[in-house]
Amino acid sequence: MLLVSVCSQVQKPVTYSYILGGTIAGSGSGGVQTTGYSAGVVGILTLINAVPEILNISNVAGIQSSNVASEDVTSDLLLTISKQINQYVCDDPTMSGAVVTHGTDVLEETAFFLDATVNCGKPVIIVGAMRPSTAISADGPYNLLEAVTVAASPLARDRGAMVVMNDRIVSAYYVTKINANTMDTFKAVEMGNLGSLVSNVPYFFYPPVKPTGKNAISVANVTSIPRVDILMAYEDMKNDTLYNAVASGAKGIVVAGAGAGGVSSSFNYAIEDVIRTHGIPIVQSTRAMSGEVPSYDTATNGAQHIASGYLNPMKSRILLGLLLAHGKNITEIAAAFKPSTAN
Ligand code: SIN
Repeated sequence: MLLVSVCSQVQKPVTYSYILGGTIAGSGSGGVQTTGYSAGVVGILTLINAVPEILNISNVAGIQSSNVASEDVTSDLLLTISKQINQYVCDDPTMSGAVVTHGTDVLEETAFFLDATVNCGKPVIIVGAMRPSTAISADGPYNLLEAVTVAASPLARDRGAMVVMNDRIVSAYYVTKINANTMDTFKAVEMGNLGSLVSNVPYFFYPPVKPTGKNAISVANVTSIPRVDILMAYEDMKNDTLYNAVASGAKGIVVAGAGAGGVSSSFNYAIEDVIRTHGIPIVQSTRAMSGEVPSYDTATNGAQHIASGYLNPMKSRILLGLLLAHGKNITEIAAAFKPSTAN
């Protein structure tokens, strides 16, 4: 782990920066290579030094927690980062916010985890890039400058974690990656952006507000996150995929159902069997890009189904893991997922 402190001499906000790798720290063989390059190879000092304008905005202290492609980010690493942000940013009155540089592929999962587990009101900004540092028109440097700018802004307080990329500010609770290649890839499809940046000045469209149904969950005493698997529904899906997940040690399962959480009648029976027999919570989300899986208010055939509400399968997996880490039972988990209309 590398600890970095980058300071200009003038009194400014201080942001804390974490590097986890990804394309923003990636390097390719030429200016037009935007796939197949090495993610997570450029260090934190190189990233910060490439954007000297950052020091006009904020002093920066930082930790290189890891430098990997985002698919290699683990639950243990998420716990570490969350605890560090709570300690080094939330508990330090001189720190204005945190910036986490991250690969984009599973960025929304880390963003959702930090949104749920850092709740001190200071902004946590997750930022990545779609073009490696070696590409013509690499987007990482400007994204990083915008991320630090939002993290240092008093306007960004009490808005949870946010993804800042491509001049947009998006709630970590709702954001998802919608395009595998383009720079305009992070969207909250139905919910829209919280704000945008023009000439590196952040503009928020609304006053601070908590997403409906959001759970604030402390990880101060959590040492590990139980395994949660995701199974995607498809035509002629076989029930043994579910039983295999149980046999492999999953303590919770998310089913990315068709439409509003739908699965075949046979698979639905298997879900109820697993809930009854193993007491394993199974959350039904949707494989569709957006929309709600509405609550199942009652148990059927002795099994409490759990609907994901507005949470997609990836975010549902993170929330279910956090709830299981706190020992919540199926009824409590169903209540935590219920998309209430009033917080
Ligand atoms: C990664 O997610 O680590 C690689 C892809 C990217 O950052 O865009």
